[in-house]
Amino acid sequence: MRRPRVRSPRRPANFSSLEFFVLPSCPPTLQFQRRRSDLFCPQRISHHGASTCSLTASPPLACTVRDCGLALIQRERTFTCARGHSYDRARTGYINLLQPQDRRSDRPGDSAAAVDARARLLAAGIGRALIDDVDRWLLRTEFPSDAVIADLGSGSGDALAACTAVRRIPGVGVDLSTAAARLAARRFPHLTWVVANADRRLPFIDHGLWVLLSLHGRRNPEECARVLMGGGMLLVAVPAAGDLVELRTHVQGQRVERSRVDMLVKEHQPFFKVVERFSVREQHTLGHASLKDLLQSTYRGERSSAQEQVASLPTMRVTLASDCVVFAPLRG
Ligand SMILES: C[S@@+](CC[C@H](N)C(=O)[O-])C[C@H]1O[C@@H](n2cnc3c(N)ncnc32)[C@H](O)[C@@H]1O
Ligand SMILES: [Zn+2]
Repeated sequence: MRRPRVRSPRRPANFSSLEFFVLPSCPPTLQFQRRRSDLFCPQRISHHGASTCSLTASPPLACTVRDCGLALIQRERTFTCARGHSYDRARTGYINLLQPQDRRSDRPGDSAAAVDARARLLAAGIGRALIDDVDRWLLRTEFPSDAVIADLGSGSGDALAACTAVRRIPGVGVDLSTAAARLAARRFPHLTWVVANADRRLPFIDHGLWVLLSLHGRRNPEECARVLMGGGMLLVAVPAAGDLVELRTHVQGQRVERSRVDMLVKEHQPFFKVVERFSVREQHTLGHASLKDLLQSTYRGERSSAQEQVASLPTMRVTLASDCVVFAPLRG
């Protein structure tokens, strides 16, 4: 059985370090965290004369070797399960948990060009409304002190970085694309970035996560239910009927508007109930370079015929629209 090992020079663990002042001993939250999953490694240090308990939290990752699934414990830059399977953080900052048998997907991960195109668009504020609304949703959501958030199909990493910043909680991005994980790890080294196939067994321990995001990303309802804590939530955003409708009409020659929400709810029904829905919409008049990026970041962008059609466009008014559904696991 192959053990993925990605060798890289030693560097400090990059999962968030949480500091608690303790008078006189470690706080109950810490004791609870240690009992819950044994994933937190307390070290006492002295800080300005006060007793401080510093926590280096390991992400709730699980071994992806077939039929293993045990928790991965982080020691510096190496993650090891109790059976001795181990994975090193790559020099570029991500952790490759992809097993050879999980490489194949009906839609392989995005190319570096597609990930870069999406990052450029977000940097220009295009596609930002979805991230802003997810942030607003997170701000009105209650969190336990040991909450961890994960993003399935995390792409350039912008969404996870924004979400974890507003609530100051640790985050794990999962993407099949090494290019995406590498870019996200370079831009947001304080978060954990994992290469794995989110259509297969998710690389998390049972009930290890408080929030799961899938923003135009991967959906895997049964696995999402397994890895969410009771009381946790799954937020799925899918392209709404009017998403990129102008661009799609131009490229395909016909206007197609189709809602995916009913299908989304149906596929989650065996494991989740719907707790909230909202829609997000933004419009921009885009020049040629952004139109090309928009096309590049969708699967049609790979087709040269689509690129030729956009090449003739000077500008276009484009709608970006998402339907968001928040689910809670049926158990708990
Ligand atoms: C449309 S992009 C969305 C990216 C990001 N969530 C956003 O909103 O900007 C879909 C992402 O899913 C990733 N992906 C595709 N198949 C995957 C799989 N089986 N497992 C994990 N990620 C996958 C792609 O590499 C890509 O980064
Ligand atoms: Zn293992």
